[in-house]
Amino acid sequence: MTQPASTRITETDLDALADAKGRIAVVIGKDGKLGEGARRVNKLTKGALARMIEGGALEGMKSGDVKTLAWPAGLKAEAVDILCLERGAKDIEARKGGAALGKLLSEDGMTVLATQQRRPVDLMLGIILRAYSFTARKTGDQKSLGEVTLMVSKPGEIEAEAKAARAVAEGVFFTRDLVSEPANHLTTTEFAKRIKDMESLGLKVTVLEEDKLEALGMGLLLSVGYGSASPSKVAVMEWNGGTDGDAPLALVGKGVVFDTGGISLKPSAGMEDMTMDMGGAGVVAGVMRTLALRGAKANVVGLVGLVENMPSERATRPGDVVTSMKGDTVEVINTDAEGRLVLADVMWYAQETYKPRAIIDLATLTGAIIIGLGHENAGVFSNDDTLCDAFLKAAGAEGEGAWRMPMGKPYDEQLKSQIADMKNVGGRPAGSITAAQFLLRFVQDGMAWMHLDIAGVASVKSDTDYAPKGATGWGVMALNRFVEDMPGEAK
Ligand code: BES
Ligand code: MN
Ligand code: ZN
Repeated sequence: MTQPASTRITETDLDALADAKGRIAVVIGKDGKLGEGARRVNKLTKGALARMIEGGALEGMKSGDVKTLAWPAGLKAEAVDILCLERGAKDIEARKGGAALGKLLSEDGMTVLATQQRRPVDLMLGIILRAYSFTARKTGDQKSLGEVTLMVSKPGEIEAEAKAARAVAEGVFFTRDLVSEPANHLTTTEFAKRIKDMESLGLKVTVLEEDKLEALGMGLLLSVGYGSASPSKVAVMEWNGGTDGDAPLALVGKGVVFDTGGISLKPSAGMEDMTMDMGGAGVVAGVMRTLALRGAKANVVGLVGLVENMPSERATRPGDVVTSMKGDTVEVINTDAEGRLVLADVMWYAQETYKPRAIIDLATLTGAIIIGLGHENAGVFSNDDTLCDAFLKAAGAEGEGAWRMPMGKPYDEQLKSQIADMKNVGGRPAGSITAAQFLLRFVQDGMAWMHLDIAGVASVKSDTDYAPKGATGWGVMALNRFVEDMPGEAK
């Protein structure tokens, strides 16, 4: 997998600056005052930094903006980057500032003078999150990123926090790699294998194969994969870092490795984007990775339904009626509304098997959520205000957009079927909500549930705060924080 740039946190060593390779980043607040490190850089460059600032370099700069002094005389470094950021900048602001630097990170590395900063670890996390590119399918020598050296006053004090931040970055990168990977490489089998490989991190992983899924009665999930040569699977990742016997939080992900629409075939323009239709499963796998890497004191089980939605003579037809593990029957009006079929059976299995304290599902479920919320916010649907509020708070704290959507009985009625217990689509109005109503039918009485429709945020066509265009890893940070803040997790 793509590894985040390596990082080193050291005590500030001003004498190392003259010979530092790559780039040197200095952080300067609006007042233009140079800290001790910046003063040394200024001296070495014979006052170039101060002249830049006196000349008005900071004018018009906003927090998180960077200006570069290129090829400075007096330094070995190729550039001095001036990041405009107040000393007291809090988590998200510091991270965004870091991301602006991360964009500039190259193979020669970067020395960041962070002595004055209140949130040096967030600065570091921003740098490594933004310095991502997916190169696994390119040939030729790929340049690897140089090391990020963070100079601070007391490295020991932030060691643990830095380790947790690195765990977050690795989880995010794992998700981004999965989402970026094309479907001929990331088959259901390959996806399950990458999950299985996480056993080395202390996760307990079980992969349920088709015969087992059949025996369990997962007729909805299986009906989606019938047209594909790749076998359908459910992969389960258990992390038991909490109190023995405490009910786990269940995370359920839609893992459609490619969504052609099936017999209700999608138009060809843009169909290649459906390589990201396993984004929900990708986030679940990424969160589980982060939890394991940071040794989270919580019980969490991640379950992903891995299928491919293809047309063939064996594919499910529009009009077919299939039976869920729950026992309810579904008339498949549109084979392109497949994600909810996958989730319904995995959610039911999760509840029957793990009796979770709450269940959160993630899915690139509907195009309609992109029409409603664009690429800024995921759609949040829930039957439980406490669960939902806690998540929205965590997402807000991590700077990941999330917006709650309404639900209700009138929407549910759009799912009535003539011949089965329900249809799999509710028509064009409120397409994201009727999809959520469909899922709610597979939530057991009294179970707190939340559904995240991430179709608009899992992969985007322009750069975001923390990521270059493409896979974002949206949700790994929010869910990791949600778990951290869950009652029961010792700090
Ligand atoms: N995977 C798609 C949703 C999607 C669309 C994700 C665009 C990411 C970007 C989903 O399976 C789908 O096809 N949904 C249909 C539902 C409809 C048939 C009721 C849709 O949104 O058009
Ligand atoms: Mn579809
Ligand atoms: Zn889909």
